[in-house]
Amino acid sequence: MEANLAPIPFTFLPGQYATITSEIDGHKVRRSYTISSSPTQRDYIELTVKREQYGLESRHLHDHATTGDLLEVSAPAGRFFFTGKEAEGIVLMAGGVGITPMMSVLRYLTDKSYHNEIHLLYGVNAPCDLIFREECAYLARRHPNVHIVSVVSKPEGTDWSGPVGYMTAELITQCVPDIARRRIHLCGPPAMMEAVKAILLKLNVPPEQVKTEDFAPPRGGPVVDPAPPSAPAAPLEGATPLTVAPSASAAPGVTAPSAQASITFSKSNKTGQLAPDQSVLEAAEAIGVVIDFECRVGTCGRCKVPLSEGVVTMEVEDSLSAEEKASGIILACQAKSAQNLVVDA
Ligand SMILES: Cc1cc2nc3c(=O)[nH]c(=O)nc-3n(C[C@H](O)[C@H](O)[C@H](O)COP(=O)(O)OP(=O)(O)OC[C@H]3O[C@@H](n4cnc5c(N)ncnc54)[C@H](O)[C@@H]3O)c2cc1C
Ligand code: FES
Repeated sequence: MEANLAPIPFTFLPGQYATITSEIDGHKVRRSYTISSSPTQRDYIELTVKREQYGLESRHLHDHATTGDLLEVSAPAGRFFFTGKEAEGIVLMAGGVGITPMMSVLRYLTDKSYHNEIHLLYGVNAPCDLIFREECAYLARRHPNVHIVSVVSKPEGTDWSGPVGYMTAELITQCVPDIARRRIHLCGPPAMMEAVKAILLKLNVPPEQVKTEDFAPPRGGPVVDPAPPSAPAAPLEGATPLTVAPSASAAPGVTAPSAQASITFSKSNKTGQLAPDQSVLEAAEAIGVVIDFECRVGTCGRCKVPLSEGVVTMEVEDSLSAEEKASGIILACQAKSAQNLVVDA
């Protein structure tokens, strides 16, 4: 069959992600994936998906998605981009599949003949985990301003002759002169990101110069959109919290609340429980209240909802403006509380 060649119907910035919705076992599953291709490529986008052993979507894409399939993809979003205008030069620090936003930036900047320094430090477990290895080597050979260092933590049994171990302060300062004045983009496994952030702080890099993207799946297990509730919504019962047990039709992977505070969704007329480590979004999903979401890491802003009673804490609130915060808008994917809450959803 002849391919229908047309430019992609949207634009994006290097480092942004798209969100894919798949139907798996009758449930909608939504996951974000960074576009690893360059925005200068208008004919396709490239997603680079790591197959997680028990992952719903990543296994679905690896094992079932095939040429000719139609994928539901949301418009690209995210603030973890670098176009070359934000600073004079960039240090990209990636661990594992966290290389994807860096690759888009690297491809874009080299396509545009960006003349400032581009450093890429890439950490993986084994040499076979180095994604884009040949392309990176080619780009470094072709562009004198591109400097790439890969570090492997478990080289045993391979012919790896490069740096061994992790991204230490020593390695970083050896590879990147004047690190304290650089803009840094960091993405990788949570433990690696925490370790590198601490090292950068010790190396006197101002935290505002360090931009991060968190790929980590939501705590509390894999997430699917809740199936439509099979029973009519439970009526509001004043201040008395209604204990909602997970029903037989509950979507797999949706965590049930484990007690403590009550949460009332005033528009949906439902009340459930909110455990201290559970987000408002997870509490909503557990009782079939639909709140739109996308990234689940506090950056896209799709899950904004008004809070009408109670106080919440949010680990990440990047996508809220000062006015929104002042008027009681919260990010449902981030908001947690030990108090009773009323949310306008
Ligand atoms: C902004 C953003 C950009 C991203 N970009 C990328 C990207 O470019 N490439 C990429 O690969 N990913 C990326 N991710 C991560 C991606 O969105 C998914 O979180 C990831 O693919 C896992 O989704 P999943 O459905 O396969 O796993 P889920 O089903 O959500 O499971 C999450 C994790 O739990 C584990 N798990 C599930 N059930 C069990 C069980 N019973 N026992 C033990 N472990 C279990 C899974 O193995 C998996 O590691 C990005 C995330 C964000 C937020
Ligand atoms: S889902 Fe993206 S900010 Fe909450």
